[in-house]
Amino acid sequence: GSDFALSGRSGKKVLVLGGGIAGLATAYELGKAGYDCRILEAKDRPGGRNWTVRGGTSLTDLDGRAQTASFSKGQYMNAGPARLPQSHVTLEYCRELDVPIEVFTNQNANAYIYHEKSAALAGQPMRWRTAKADVYGYVSELLAKATDQGALDAELTAADKERLIAFLRNFGAIKGKADGYAYTGSDRRGYAVEPGAAFEAGTVLGPVPTLSDVIASGVGQRFTFEFGYDQAMLMFQPVGGMDAIPYALAKAIGPDRITYGAEALEVTDLADGADVTYRDAQGRIRTRHADFVVAAVPPMVMARIKHNLGADVTAALKYPTATPVGKIGLEYGSRWWETDEHIYGGITPTDTDLATIWYPSYGYHGSRGTLIGYYNFGADALSYSALPHQERLARAVSRGVKIHGEKYRTELAHSFSVAWHRTPYIEGGWVGWASQNGPEYKRLNQPAGHVYFAGDWLSHVIAWQHGAFSSARKVVTDIHERVMAA
Ligand code: PHE
Repeated sequence: GSDFALSGRSGKKVLVLGGGIAGLATAYELGKAGYDCRILEAKDRPGGRNWTVRGGTSLTDLDGRAQTASFSKGQYMNAGPARLPQSHVTLEYCRELDVPIEVFTNQNANAYIYHEKSAALAGQPMRWRTAKADVYGYVSELLAKATDQGALDAELTAADKERLIAFLRNFGAIKGKADGYAYTGSDRRGYAVEPGAAFEAGTVLGPVPTLSDVIASGVGQRFTFEFGYDQAMLMFQPVGGMDAIPYALAKAIGPDRITYGAEALEVTDLADGADVTYRDAQGRIRTRHADFVVAAVPPMVMARIKHNLGADVTAALKYPTATPVGKIGLEYGSRWWETDEHIYGGITPTDTDLATIWYPSYGYHGSRGTLIGYYNFGADALSYSALPHQERLARAVSRGVKIHGEKYRTELAHSFSVAWHRTPYIEGGWVGWASQNGPEYKRLNQPAGHVYFAGDWLSHVIAWQHGAFSSARKVVTDIHERVMAA
């Protein structure tokens, strides 16, 4: 696949447990090298956490609570992965599999930052552009003053000082020496009245909060998000939903090679391969033999499957801890965020239990649109998942109203929520390792007899499809080298 190709062919049989991205990638790549691969997938669909919810999609969680999405035609939410950085191998699979992509807007100057627990400006949504103008402006003012007053003379030559101040005047849009390098606001903040024709020069948004209040608001703490290696624009998404990736992989593998509704019960390593016992969709217990098995299921799920791979394997599987993660999709009967607030995609971070609100990066100017009303982790995800869907919805909407006003409630049409840690056969948004240098991580990155393990959880790119693809490619390489050497 992409830059990845195994040299030489083999007809060995490989049984893959799990049809998420790691399992699909394993069968896809081995299949290209001639292996006879089968996937056993407990759910009735491929993709695992790569899951796009549309009208008619249903979910019954581990608590027995069931939802069926009633989203309108064309509306969807990516319940799992939703953004692809340019560096990730996931994009190479999109190219190879003819999955069309479009820009995913991870950063939008017109989206808000909403802090209600801050020491100043609490409960006042601030546009990213406004927050950046004020924080950069005041920081530039302070540094220019310190530089000019000689506070940095030990660090800077006279020429350095001059150039640094020139940079700061540009970076912060601050006044000159005569005006004390003051930051007094700029049109970077945005406008209360937009500039227009003839004599309409516009009115810059004001008033400018004080330096003390800007710092106390904490908005500047949000800026580093987009500096993150994996979160920087441009980012991408498949057109029509993230699940285009698993469906394209499943098609390329061959639908007859994937058994849905097959729940693995036992893995037995043998002298000449391994056996897997599973319950099929009809409830029959079956056993299959293969030369190799690749367990591409979450570690907490694998830890409960009976096996003869050793107590160290079980202990290692139990070592990483699952992270609770939740998302809610909110379909609206109008795209008020575009028409009223001029927000076309992007994300509003909050210090509420919503964590973030996401505006859709598809369907612009359509008659309807679907937001992500929360995407939260840890304690926030646990508190929402403890509630039935209608109460999750009511809580999420009550928070959103504080940012966007009553239309957040009145325009709402449909909703659907997922709690990954309460989802059968998944049981977590992702996992965390206390250490990826210890014996546990090492153990599972090696085969146990003829049984291999794969998944994003066995990579240094956890919680990204890139991690799942990379882990699959590593295992595929290991198997192929072993077969070719035999
Ligand atoms: N990949 C997921 C996301 O982008 C989870 C994640 C969040 C991973 C932040 C790393 C950092 O939301």
